[in-house]
Amino acid sequence: MRHLMNVLNLSVEDVAELIVLAEDMMREPAKYSEVCKGKKLATCFYEPSTRTRLSFEAAMLNLGGQVLGFSSADSSSAAKGESVADTIRVISGYADICAMRHPKEGAPYVASLHSSIPVINAGDGGHNHPTQTLTDLLTIKNLKGRLDNLTVGLCGDLKFGRTVHSLVEAMVRYPNVKFVMISPPELKIPDYLRRDMLEANGIEYKEVNVLEDVLPELDLLYMTRVQRERFFNEEDYIRLKDSFILDAKKMKLAPKDMLVLHPLPRVNEISTEVDKDPRAVYFKQAQYGVYIRMALIMTLLAEADN
Ligand code: CP
Repeated sequence: MRHLMNVLNLSVEDVAELIVLAEDMMREPAKYSEVCKGKKLATCFYEPSTRTRLSFEAAMLNLGGQVLGFSSADSSSAAKGESVADTIRVISGYADICAMRHPKEGAPYVASLHSSIPVINAGDGGHNHPTQTLTDLLTIKNLKGRLDNLTVGLCGDLKFGRTVHSLVEAMVRYPNVKFVMISPPELKIPDYLRRDMLEANGIEYKEVNVLEDVLPELDLLYMTRVQRERFFNEEDYIRLKDSFILDAKKMKLAPKDMLVLHPLPRVNEISTEVDKDPRAVYFKQAQYGVYIRMALIMTLLAEADN
């Protein structure tokens, strides 16, 4: 039984196969409209979500399967004190695969230890968000044509932003990928990532706090929201929330072929005037999330059946 907790549970070859499958699903969706007929996806979301939950559900419906689930801890028996371990034991009898989001880091992993169906981590606290990373990789490969030889700017909340953590882990595996980390000093990437991913793999990177200075050298700019829900106090959040705002004036400094990605939701960090810039691909990226989740669900279910 294969679960997906971290993007590193997938080899570079696995990721390449998922991207090829997702691109085929984009081109010929009808070919896949019944491949999960009779199967059910449970979406167990203990934390708010728009894209991840609904794109998982759209993915399963596109594959001819069905969906069930809950969208908040309050609307499940977690509100009565039920453990994640007991919940997944029960869900294993109701569904064939489960996507779980939880505010506590490692909660989907605990679920996987007690599950008889594949469990997909749909975001655990400030830790990982592997299906967002698969979405990002599909977007980059499809629109940029490659996953290697890229200078990637990561901007905003690099401390609590789980999408950034998963993306760094995934992209250090491709040749000649360099990172430019753009954040306030308080929101730098965690030490474990710097040590275990960047320095251990000899990856070229720099940490800066002025976006304008580095825009001309980027192939990709990955903007992130300051993660209000992970701050210990509101004062710090208010002080840091508008540290970086990408606007049309700053976009003039960027290369003509630089792509702007954002996992969304956006708050203030990208001015809406940037949306009409052809380099702004974040809404397309959200759409790609459906196709990569279709590919993942189909693959994990096929493996579980064998
Ligand atoms: N990107 C992302 O995880 O969005 P949601 O929180 O809306 O699922």
